[in-house]
Amino acid sequence: MATHALERHVALAGFMGARKTTLGRDAARLLGRPFVDLDHEIEHRTGSTVNELFERGETEFRTVEERIAGEVFSSDAPTVVALGGGAVLSAATRAVLRDRALTVVLDVDVESAWRRVGHSRRPLARTEDEFRRLYEERLPVYAQVAEARTTDVDGIVLAAGGIHVEIGALERLGELVPGDGPVEIVSDARVAGIHGMDAQLALGARAQASHELAPGEAAKTAESLEALWHALRLERGGTLVALGGGCTTDAAGFAAATYMRGIDWVAVPTTLVGQVDAAIGGKTAIDLPGGKNLIGAFHWPVRTVIDPATLETLPEAELENGLAEMVKTGLLAGKPFWELERADAVRRCAAFKAAVCLRDPHDRGDRRQLNLGHTFAHALEAAAGFELPHGRAVALGLLAALRLSGLETTAVDETLRPEPVHVDRERAWEALARDKKVVGGVPQLVLLDAPGRPRLGVELPEADVRAALNELIEG
Ligand SMILES: NC(=O)c1ccc[n+]([C@@H]2O[C@H](COP(=O)([O-])OP(=O)(O)OC[C@H]3O[C@@H](n4cnc5c(N)ncnc54)[C@H](O)[C@@H]3O)[C@@H](O)[C@H]2O)c1
Ligand SMILES: [Zn+2]
Repeated sequence: MATHALERHVALAGFMGARKTTLGRDAARLLGRPFVDLDHEIEHRTGSTVNELFERGETEFRTVEERIAGEVFSSDAPTVVALGGGAVLSAATRAVLRDRALTVVLDVDVESAWRRVGHSRRPLARTEDEFRRLYEERLPVYAQVAEARTTDVDGIVLAAGGIHVEIGALERLGELVPGDGPVEIVSDARVAGIHGMDAQLALGARAQASHELAPGEAAKTAESLEALWHALRLERGGTLVALGGGCTTDAAGFAAATYMRGIDWVAVPTTLVGQVDAAIGGKTAIDLPGGKNLIGAFHWPVRTVIDPATLETLPEAELENGLAEMVKTGLLAGKPFWELERADAVRRCAAFKAAVCLRDPHDRGDRRQLNLGHTFAHALEAAAGFELPHGRAVALGLLAALRLSGLETTAVDETLRPEPVHVDRERAWEALARDKKVVGGVPQLVLLDAPGRPRLGVELPEADVRAALNELIEG
């Protein structure tokens, strides 16, 4: 059972003053979904204000609320719905939520709530005593319906993506892997040695086997996949847990997509690249000798568990690869995420990528922005015979993208200190011209009108693109 809301409504529950409407509207925009405020919908459909309906008695109001909630959640196109504070008191509404929505509770403490809505014209916020009593009374109901709890818009987006970010989450893996069926763990030897035991302990008796993939990109070969298919003993109700970097989650996720026509999987990324990028968005893949990620599937994990504490054992060079993706994400978002303390930065970047991918799960439009800097990066990697660390290639690619965008490059210069690489210029240019994103011989670039404002499918004169590429190459 998936914890995400790819094909479900997102329902926001919580007490008055939890900012369900404000955050709901923001989340809906980020997720590319319509937003419905249940109270407004009630007023719209009945032609009366909530206060007027309440004056006829709370029971009467609740009956109308229950009926209209049922109608709103029966629509097929997934929306974001802000519920009235008392909507979840109805057993019928709770049943509809269980069937049709992911329920996210927005937490608020009673002081802030009273500060925001006390003395308002709301029927249930007239005296502080009554307000506090109601708050205490409602807490257990919210606890009962909450599939996720948060206080901010990133939290809503992450919940919609089934993504749980928490320091120490690995120790709670047993609770976080949905269901109670058997689990098999896939990782590489290094990660198995460092974090495998914690994962097994957390999963307890559910962990029925562990499998090891070859290190690095070698995990993403047809041979490696075939060996994994043979080793798996899971049945359709089982869950595969991919514990490791992007190579592990890509390969194990693809195994989950194909084994028995698709089984559930949980991604547990342990590299910075994995936590801010590779394990988010449901793309799984292996390589062919002719190119990376040529065989793959969209198969969104039923949950993604991000434990920033696992990064403490990550080598510096791997952290640098992740930092480059973080700068890419920050440039796309228009916010310097890379300046934040690491766990926060991970959460913000993961939420940003999740929103883009939830808007465009099958890579048909908006998601192409994630390619910022990557056309150049891939060309340099190919010209270097894939000996160049991805982070270094991305740092250079971002530099080129910023230059061609006519923007200043300080963020990239200071954070990533990109060094030109020594590769063959012709080879790099040929690789760029062969890039997947090339249409009719002209590269389709992602540039920025400004940080936070990506422009997709930009075609520039060949000479300009070539000059930008040349600047990244020394000698
Ligand atoms: N699916 C996607 O959307 C997507 C997006 C970006 C990248 N990717 C893919 O991700 C792959 C790169 O992932 P990566 O950079 O995470 O590489 P990786 O999986 O090879 O991991 C890098 C190294 O770090 C080690 N490691 C992992 N976690 C560790 C930990 N906590 N402590 C110590 N060592 C640890 C691994 O054993 C490995 O040696 C590429 O194949 C790329 O194509 C996929
Ligand atoms: Zn990348």
